[in-house]
Amino acid sequence: MEEDLLLSKLHSKKEIKDESLESQEEHFVLNILLLDLADFPKDNSRWMVKFKVFEEILDHHLSEEEEDLFPEAENILTKEEQTASGTIFMDLKERRLSSALETKPVKELEKPKK
Ligand SMILES: [Fe+2]
Repeated sequence: MEEDLLLSKLHSKKEIKDESLESQEEHFVLNILLLDLADFPKDNSRWMVKFKVFEEILDHHLSEEEEDLFPEAENILTKEEQTASGTIFMDLKERRLSSALETKPVKELEKPKK
């Protein structure tokens, strides 16, 4: 969502293009690391090493976005752009949360055949 709603807009703003592209590349790296963590055996001692590397990169990414990119974006984007993105974001968030929390009907257990 962040890439679709925010970074794609920032890529076209020359004042912040490099930072937004860097943020997108960090998303790419974090996604690769997550896929690796998901596939890697959890009982292998290297799993925690991989997780710590993921955590360090995630911390770096969040700090850069929260301390630099987002405040700069707030100064560059117009109020209308911010409001439009915020409305779409809240709508998507609500829809994704409801579908994630949606309960599926439990399949009725078949009666054992006699
Ligand atoms: Fe991000």
